[in-house]
Amino acid sequence: MTKKSCILITGGAGFIGSHVVRVFVKKYPDYTIVNLDKLTYAGNLANLKDIEDFSNYNFVKGDITDNTFVLNLFEQYQFDGVIHLAAESHVDRSISNPIEFVMTNVIGTVNLLNAAKKIWNANIDNPVSNKKFYHISTDEVYGSLGAEGLFTEKTAYDPHSPYSASKASSDHFVRAYFDTYKLPVVISNCSNNYGSFHFPEKLIPLAINNIKNMRPVPVYGKGENIRDWLFVEDHAAAIDCIFHQGKIGSTYNIGGNNEWKNIDLIHLLCQIMDKKLDRTEGTSASLITFVKDRAGHDLRYAIDASKLQNELGWKPSLKFEEGLEKTVSWYLSHEEWLNNVTSGAYKEYYTEQYAKR
Ligand code: NAD
Ligand code: DAU
Repeated sequence: MTKKSCILITGGAGFIGSHVVRVFVKKYPDYTIVNLDKLTYAGNLANLKDIEDFSNYNFVKGDITDNTFVLNLFEQYQFDGVIHLAAESHVDRSISNPIEFVMTNVIGTVNLLNAAKKIWNANIDNPVSNKKFYHISTDEVYGSLGAEGLFTEKTAYDPHSPYSASKASSDHFVRAYFDTYKLPVVISNCSNNYGSFHFPEKLIPLAINNIKNMRPVPVYGKGENIRDWLFVEDHAAAIDCIFHQGKIGSTYNIGGNNEWKNIDLIHLLCQIMDKKLDRTEGTSASLITFVKDRAGHDLRYAIDASKLQNELGWKPSLKFEEGLEKTVSWYLSHEEWLNNVTSGAYKEYYTEQYAKR
């Protein structure tokens, strides 16, 4: 990238995207950052309130499945780089409504690839330099591990949910555009994130919200499934690192080296919540309720992030216990945010904010 680059970040009003937008807007004042987001239930401009008036930040409301709109946007801004996070991201929703995942995660990604290919005039005889299309993906494309082993960049794809199948498909398209058109792409596959601005349908923020309100905490099956948790700000730092230093055509795995069984994680969370809320020990844990398992529930995810650590020098900055405590404190002090995202009230914030301009 050059100092004055114009960067498109898709899905910047969502959980991880908002952290990425914040890092790029603050750290690179000479970049022009364009945040393109449809503002679905998962996207809220209030997640970016602290940077909305920065002069290098622009928001565009739009849908990546709209081919003409996407192409016009690329023609208007002549982006030098793309960091693509926009997606339908919740596994349970993909089980009840797979087609939305195909539309946004597959068709939307291909629309962005086509627009970048056109604007950068990428073809096999014209390798493009100084541009980058960075696709943010997930470890779920690799499927499920048994008791042993880790996902590496060479692990074969084996997705099981409609969500992971749609992300795997989009990864394949991104690679195909590199092989076929020499589009300058890079992909990263990350493990489970946690932290501030996480929509309270995912395990950790859902459990925090329910414990706070003395509601049952639903644990799927026996709670034996294992996830590898990473603090969202560490993911944003990895994305910054890969966007600037990642090798074109490469894939990087990102993970926290931090495996937790769901039930152990929930018990740790309950202990933290009891302390923070001044409750008798065991009060929060009494809310744990085992419920019907998720269909096709992957048993274990765990990432080998050594390529990223060895080649680009990134590593997680925070211990899980510390990150979880920080996250609980954030949710307990952001009650208004929680109420507004769950009620949809932030959609009015968008209308009001843009009515003012
Ligand atoms: P999220 O659901 O919080 O945010 C997604 C954002 O995309 C929202 O702001 C939403 O409004 C926007 N969006 C959805 N459909 C759109 C469309 N058609 N056009 C434009 N914008 C649209 O998701 P997240 O958890 O922040 O995940 C971001 C990315 O990171 C996704 O690609 C996801 O697959 C990937 N990822 C997530 C995790 C995780 O633990 N959350 C881990 C690894 C990878
Ligand atoms: O691994 C990366 C993926 O992590 C991302 O690609 C996805 O976008 C993100 O949503 C996340 O997927 P998971 O399915 O792992 O996250 P979720 O928070 O939905 O669930 C975490 C674990 O907790 C999983 O084993 C299912 C379980 N769970 C989840 C919910 C919502 C429960 O036991 N109870 C619940 O209520």
